[in-house]
Amino acid sequence: MKSYNDLLIANKEWAKQQVKAEPNFFKELSGLQTPQFLWIGCSDSRVPANEITNTKPGEIFVHRNVANLVVHTDLNLMTVLMYAVDVLKVKHVIVCGHYGCGGVQAAMTNKSFGLINRWLTNIKDVYRFHREEVDALKTLEERENLMVELNVREQVLNLAKTSLIQEAWTKEGRPTLHGCVYGLKDGILKDLVYMDSKTAIDPIYKYDLDK
Ligand code: CO
Repeated sequence: MKSYNDLLIANKEWAKQQVKAEPNFFKELSGLQTPQFLWIGCSDSRVPANEITNTKPGEIFVHRNVANLVVHTDLNLMTVLMYAVDVLKVKHVIVCGHYGCGGVQAAMTNKSFGLINRWLTNIKDVYRFHREEVDALKTLEERENLMVELNVREQVLNLAKTSLIQEAWTKEGRPTLHGCVYGLKDGILKDLVYMDSKTAIDPIYKYDLDK
């Protein structure tokens, strides 16, 4: 078991190694942040955005929550999204789920988790849209895996439903939205879906926007 102090010691060693490899590493990074990607992932400690994509500090702007949900009333996520899209001008927004997600698993049960229920209801809604397809699968693991994928697809669509993304699409033709799922067992990202300014979405979600 590591202590907090162990983390501080490890941090000093890490900073030393960074400077050894690239003497101007912190000088350059502290001057400017220009990531091309926004990552919306699960809070799960086993799915760290930078490590699994082999990217460095400065390359990915990150938001994580339980089960990587895009909820329009979530002020935190919407603030991150707006900053990434309008200010940092990211070219890609990635929703990354992962197999074995505790949030998805919990939502597939009837257990009550108090306050967390409100958050997990969003996943239950995804199940309701796809009940037949999910229930047709034999094992619980298969059903949970499919739900993880369907959840990611739904969250990508939730991004496309925002006027914020639609405005950026209309004015600048970016960002591209991506949905993928990370495998805890093999460390591989499975690419699932993408949407860009040319992708058709249900007309009810489209806003009248000036070019
Ligand atoms: Co998770």
